[in-house]
Amino acid sequence: MRLIYLLLFILVISCKTKPESEIEIKTRPVLGVIEKNAMVVSAREEASKIGKEILQKGGNVFDAMVATEMALAVSYPYAGNLGGGGFMVYRKANGETGAIDYREKAPLAAYKDMYLDENGDPIPEKSQLGAMAVGVPGTIAGIFEVHKKFGTLPIRELLTPVVQLAQKGYIITEKQEKRLRHFRELFIETNKDTILYAQSFKANDTIKNPKLAATLQRIIENGRDEFYKGETGQKMVEYIQSKGGIITMDDLNKYEAKWRDPVQFTYKDLTIISMSPPSSGGVCLAQIMKMIEPYDLSNYGHNTLKSIQIITEAERRAYADRSFYLGDPDFVKIPVDTLISDSYLSDRMKDFDFEQATLSSDLSYGSIPGYESSETTHYSVVDQFGNAISVTTTLNGAYGSKLYVPELGFFLNNEMDDFSAKPGMPNMFGLLGAEANAIAPEKRMLSSMTPTLVEKDGELWMSVGTPGGSTIITSVLQTILNVKEYGMTMQDAVNAPRFHHQWLPDVVVFEPNSFDKSILDSLRTKGYKTNEEESRVIGKVDGILVLPDGSLEGGADKRGDDTAVGF
Ligand code: DON
Repeated sequence: MRLIYLLLFILVISCKTKPESEIEIKTRPVLGVIEKNAMVVSAREEASKIGKEILQKGGNVFDAMVATEMALAVSYPYAGNLGGGGFMVYRKANGETGAIDYREKAPLAAYKDMYLDENGDPIPEKSQLGAMAVGVPGTIAGIFEVHKKFGTLPIRELLTPVVQLAQKGYIITEKQEKRLRHFRELFIETNKDTILYAQSFKANDTIKNPKLAATLQRIIENGRDEFYKGETGQKMVEYIQSKGGIITMDDLNKYEAKWRDPVQFTYKDLTIISMSPPSSGGVCLAQIMKMIEPYDLSNYGHNTLKSIQIITEAERRAYADRSFYLGDPDFVKIPVDTLISDSYLSDRMKDFDFEQATLSSDLSYGSIPGYESSETTHYSVVDQFGNAISVTTTLNGAYGSKLYVPELGFFLNNEMDDFSAKPGMPNMFGLLGAEANAIAPEKRMLSSMTPTLVEKDGELWMSVGTPGGSTIITSVLQTILNVKEYGMTMQDAVNAPRFHHQWLPDVVVFEPNSFDKSILDSLRTKGYKTNEEESRVIGKVDGILVLPDGSLEGGADKRGDDTAVGF
């Protein structure tokens, strides 16, 4: 495949028919960081380095997970968190696979119509900003559960470097400066006061967070209970309630992270292992990949008319199913096996036609006989023992609800917006939901997070994932296809321009100035609505690819400050 790629490179160079920017990916096979033994790729250099140091001390991927997750909470408060939740998929060197769900839950006092006004219309602000938007956080339960089951180094050893990072501070990048400036007013408005992050920071300034250092130190001393039963929990609940929220100590006491069976399926010679409900990621990814499997994508070529059409149509159908069938498996019965079965999916694609777009208005969820009747960051780690993890963690929106517990030094999520506040009404990602994702006390809100591991010939091949709300699933999909079908390096696969379709709104969104104009024209002629203007970036993908000689290639997304390090 690499050979074909090189030949294409020479061909394209000699033709020179397209402007430079459009052929960048085809003409420059860019390799990411390559290391022999182990690698961590995350949204911040500091976090990747702390994870790597844990591995170098002899820790495994699970030890590195605990340290990296908390280092992101310090240095990437945009999404890294103590006040949010996430999912991890793992594959041990012996081939054993599994997943953990540390997704937030609705508080006990939550109820179905809690975000509707007196006319029954959603009040988006209520589920997105401030204390009412906060779901019961799961991250601390998640890292302790992972450590209990698989950790090999003591928590003190894992978290002390993170405490030191919070004390010594981390350097603001230009991208961070911009984001902090953008959200400053909202921080002040939401907290009714100024907070650490409302100061006017400039790139290259150092942010120290002694309050967070102290919180983490108490967690080292007192363990998981510090957050769910102790002083940290009490202070958090008092602060949330003082701002009008409904989370109680009872909610914290009852929170448990849960081990889940990942969704596992094959695509040609690959076996994909991805997150199961309450994330929609694995099911949707399976549906899309199974629907496109019969088509010869590598022959059509990367981001060509036919490839875009087939991927878009599969995405349309999967997202329509997502909106109806998916929710928290502890509350609703989800026909996962049927949804990802070959017969159901080939039936779903029966009316696909290369001549003409299917209209989302003509398409609903598929019928399943007998069935009764919702800011993020990703990191991938492979250790020197051959274990791999893929972890996506989130506060939902940028800096979550913007509510920041000053005494504890961290932001709280606005994950409640991932529920369907009302059937047919979109959430902040434009996603629709139904009864399956309605709000109920203690229920987990449906996610799109898609931490994914891929095997080839029974061996670990890739760890991949991304933030991006509804675009997470389609970004992970395209990254896997870029390597598998289009022969790209891990770094090129991450860099390559992306597009996205989610059934409704019925529009294909493209990253701007990266797609051939004539292809976009042809799509419109066939009845596709396209949008290049609105889409800033689609996803910030991080991944690790195992190369044929066993070394590791990191792909760190240039759309962020993401960094791969290893040894
Ligand atoms: O769980 C989900 O699907 C969302 N809360 C993820 C949010 C997200 O990716 C925002 N980042 N860009």
